[in-house]
Amino acid sequence: MERSRPSQQVYENYTQENLLVWQTLFNRQMMTLRNHASSDFLKSVKKIGFSSLRIPDFSNVNLRLKTMTGWKLHTVPCISPIEEFFQLLSEKEFTATCWLRNFEELDYIEEPDMFHDVFGHAPLLTHPDYCSFFQQLGEIACRYKGIPEAMQRLQRLYWFTIEFGMIEENNELKIYGAGIISSKEETAHALGNSSKKHAFNVNTMMNHAFRTDIIQGDYYVLKSFEQLRNSIPEIELELQRSVELKKTA
Ligand SMILES: [Fe+2]
Repeated sequence: MERSRPSQQVYENYTQENLLVWQTLFNRQMMTLRNHASSDFLKSVKKIGFSSLRIPDFSNVNLRLKTMTGWKLHTVPCISPIEEFFQLLSEKEFTATCWLRNFEELDYIEEPDMFHDVFGHAPLLTHPDYCSFFQQLGEIACRYKGIPEAMQRLQRLYWFTIEFGMIEENNELKIYGAGIISSKEETAHALGNSSKKHAFNVNTMMNHAFRTDIIQGDYYVLKSFEQLRNSIPEIELELQRSVELKKTA
């Protein structure tokens, strides 16, 4: 079925099915996340004002983000080219779709819709340490534009943190990456014993290739969001080193 992918949110255009999809996904994920998501993510859902009753209105989300961290959602019809995505991050803008999957696609969708982009990503845009890391990742990427090895390494860091990151809280594993947060199956897999958990390590993540079309086999675990923010100087150093190495090879 042909899907409409608007590049701007027109709130009145949402249908009853859209609302039902949002409500079902929201309620279902929150039941699990209550016990397994990072406490910062759970607080952030409240701060940003999400509930099962209403599909988020981007203008309200942006108003809240503006006062808290200065970030905003930048509406896009589909995934943006990676350099453009990083450029917008450096300007505190996160690219997000505003359309929702159909009811038959509740459990699996090939490309990110707004349940992933908005429910999964937007809450932590209220968190200062998370935002500081995210923006600086974008700034670093802008300095390495046109250097594929550097972009690949930065994409891996993005993947293993913002998309599929886990965090330790009171000796318990919690999830915060949007790819886990927004997926029932990925949540179960990340929390189960069949996936590998590694300590957060910039060098290892940068050299770890990933696939986008499968449930992840490996997850990296933070000690705190402060650790994420504080990893920026090491990222710059490792990146400089790996790009220099490539030049002299
Ligand atoms: Fe994502």
